Amino acid sequence: MRIKYTISLVFFGALVIIEMENNIISRVSDKLALKQTPQTPLQPSGLSHILPKHNASFTKLSKTNSAFSLIKRRLENYSQHKEVVTRGRKHILLLATTRTGSSFVGEFFNQQGDNMFFLFEPLWHVEKMLTLETGGTNATAAAKAYRDVLQQLFLCDFSLLESFIEPLPVNHITTGLFRRESSSSLCQESVCSPVIKGVFERYRCRTRRCGPLNLTMASESCLQKEHRAIKSVRVRQLENLRPLAEDPRLDVKFIQLVRDPRAVLASRMVAFAAKYKNWKQWAIDGEVPIDDDEVRKLKWNCDNIRLSAEIGLRQPAWLRRRYMLVRYEDIARFPMRKATEMYRFVGIPFTPQVKSWILKNTQASKETSGVYSTQKNSSEQVEKWRFSLPFKIARVVQKVCGPTLKLFGYKFVSSEEMLTDKSISLIEDKVFNFV
Ligand SMILES: *[C@@H]1O[C@H](CO)[C@@H](O)[C@H](O)[C@H]1NC(C)=O
Ligand SMILES: *[C@@H]1O[C@H](CO)[C@@H](O)[C@H](O)[C@H]1NC(C)=O
Ligand SMILES: *[C@@H]1O[C@H](CO)[C@@H](O)[C@H](O)[C@H]1NC(C)=O
Ligand SMILES: *[C@@H]1O[C@H](CO)[C@@H](O)[C@H](O)[C@H]1NC(C)=O
Ligand SMILES: *[C@@H]1O[C@H](CO)[C@@H](O)[C@H](O)[C@H]1NC(C)=O
Repeated sequence: MRIKYTISLVFFGALVIIEMENNIISRVSDKLALKQTPQTPLQPSGLSHILPKHNASFTKLSKTNSAFSLIKRRLENYSQHKEVVTRGRKHILLLATTRTGSSFVGEFFNQQGDNMFFLFEPLWHVEKMLTLETGGTNATAAAKAYRDVLQQLFLCDFSLLESFIEPLPVNHITTGLFRRESSSSLCQESVCSPVIKGVFERYRCRTRRCGPLNLTMASESCLQKEHRAIKSVRVRQLENLRPLAEDPRLDVKFIQLVRDPRAVLASRMVAFAAKYKNWKQWAIDGEVPIDDDEVRKLKWNCDNIRLSAEIGLRQPAWLRRRYMLVRYEDIARFPMRKATEMYRFVGIPFTPQVKSWILKNTQASKETSGVYSTQKNSSEQVEKWRFSLPFKIARVVQKVCGPTLKLFGYKFVSSEEMLTDKSISLIEDKVFNFV
């Protein structure tokens, strides 16, 4: 009995102390915010060497930083407390590659309602800035930048992302945040500043008229939300994100979205016609040169997706209850069931808003579907590629992506007839999850 009381008292005492400390720190932080504009972003830890631009501003910022470093560290500790105390907060990362239906699945979270902060492809800016003259990126450097930006964004800190936006935001204001309108959180009243006449908004909100995005307002709104979700097609290796899974301030849930690589290639040949012109040429005439760079790239993509999934499915301790694999084909055929499963995995209630959005957008007519549209007759969509991809191309994909097809349960085709025979399904029933 006595022990029980003592424990309760100690526990209560600890809470009071934490609370007092929080109050003091937040008062300090209020003062700091008033005195100090622009605010000091967090030190971009070790990133300056890979930033080809904005290096001058970084030097300037680090000087300001040192003066406030102690208070900043305290603030970090404070936010750590806050994040741990806020039980039930989830950080959802939807990982995919292009043409796997990730915009559609992203909507499952974007439509969740008022307690979700959703970001659509924030890493677009990072990739763009790190793109070298050769057209590619330094994979090591990019992986680190992606991870650090994601980690900050999950904590509602936009400062590192800001350093990658071009042109560089002034006083945390930008007109150029990629696809702002695809994030309902960034077009809400609380993040909507007045329209400025004559200022062009490339990615302007559709639900209401807003002026340039104030990233401080975005951050404040993010902090108010219970959950946070980010969709990205840019992360190559799940393993690179291990520090996020191990960050005690975060409760990260990774959802990896995959699709039949043959269908992905068919879709990319239409959507990114210029980039895939070699494939189109090979489809029309001639053989596919198996040692071509394009073919190597396809293999590299397939291998990355498979390696990430293998790690996820193996469920190492750091990923336990944090990883879910979802096939595009299952979502397209059973959207409601899969969405329900995803929400159960993440551990937050499935809202009526999401449900009605799915109903509305999976029974839409063909006419409304554009290249990037999420409005599709989804059952029909799943099989369409089988009539546009020549058998010889499908065979090449099977050759270089064989282990990937096998892992995800996509059946190989042995002839043109089999490829176009709709009575043969190429999707094996497969259960990946263990929630
Ligand atoms: C960044 O630094 C390099 C070398 O120090 C310099 O040549 C370049 O002009 C700088 N770029 C900017 C945007 O300041
Ligand atoms: C922040 O917390 C760490 C351990 O969690 C501690 O070592 C460090 O001294 C704290 N920093 C400040 C400034 O309170
Ligand atoms: C890629 O970046 C890392 C540092 O981030 C550097 O050590 C490495 O040399 C770079 N690789 C190439 C091929 O430039
Ligand atoms: C951006 O929003 C913050 C927080 O609401 C506000 O303090 C700041 O003045 C805004 N910046 C501009 C340029 O309006
Ligand atoms: C969607 O496509 C399937 C398969 O082709 C078809 O049976 C169904 O009628 C279509 N639904 C709508 C609403 O167009």
